[in-house]
Amino acid sequence: MSATTGPGRPPESLFLACDLQEPGAEAAARATLRRLSAHDRERVARLHRSTDRTRSVLARRLALQAAGRLLGIPWTGLRLGRHHQGRPYVTTHPRLSLSMAHSGRYAVAAAALGACVGVDVEEISRVSALPDSAFLTPAEITSLPPAGAAAEHRAALWALKEAATKLTGEGMRAGMKRVAFRREGAHAPFTAETPYTDGGFTACRLPGGYVCAVGVSAGTPPAVPTLLTVGTAPQQAEPAAEESAPHIWLSVN
Ligand SMILES: CC(C)(COP(=O)(O)OP(=O)(O)OC[C@H]1O[C@@H](n2cnc3c(N)ncnc32)[C@H](O)[C@@H]1OP(=O)(O)O)[C@@H](O)C(=O)NCCC(=O)NCCS
Repeated sequence: MSATTGPGRPPESLFLACDLQEPGAEAAARATLRRLSAHDRERVARLHRSTDRTRSVLARRLALQAAGRLLGIPWTGLRLGRHHQGRPYVTTHPRLSLSMAHSGRYAVAAAALGACVGVDVEEISRVSALPDSAFLTPAEITSLPPAGAAAEHRAALWALKEAATKLTGEGMRAGMKRVAFRREGAHAPFTAETPYTDGGFTACRLPGGYVCAVGVSAGTPPAVPTLLTVGTAPQQAEPAAEESAPHIWLSVN
């Protein structure tokens, strides 16, 4: 039996992450390709670097897995579509909200029933290269902690802002300084809110110098992502799948 939204049913959300440095991540991505829609496979094929293809495929896999878990059905039967602004959805369940992101060694994704969801993941050192004035409001700059923790906070603010703009579907068109966040608590993981959109947000750190953020328009956002192991199971369970679209990995590079 599958779960649905409905009156009286509280909003639910699920936030998943995977580490691409895990052994077998690329093989898992290859094995996942045949599970994707033709449109997604074409998008992946256009990426030049194998690491980008791995990140992109595994983010899609996590999005499908999060959707499948919330719906109570196998993710392997689900397919992703893409709204014109870029927001992903499950073709058979368009009212389920989905969001995904990929950066460096991580792919993350979240699904929500009865709420809209947005996620992001960022490498702290990449955000450190940006000047405050590029994305922080004066109030956010004033509330940054002292030097030691400031880099992590700046990156968390970036991730929160991107998660919020994905939650609304506006994307970066929203303008980073229009999406001002107030955080609760001094250390990650922390909760945060923004007048830009209704809902609750959390940001937390990931190993290796990364932060991620998730927001939901209703209900309580997950405090941290569930880290999934994708590396070994698909390799063993689906050895033939890797051969189903090898040209996508081989055609570029
Ligand atoms: C959404 C956006 C913030 C993503 O930023 P990013 O750092 O490049 O990429 P992330 O890994 O964080 O997220 C990418 C995912 O966001 C999702 N996404 C894209 N546009 C989205 C939107 N408008 N709303 C919600 N989610 C969106 C997609 O699932 C995308 O995955 P894919 O690229 O593998 O298909 C950014 O691409 C954006 O603002 N796009 C809309 C504006 C635009 O088209 N700008 C063109 C360049 S200026």
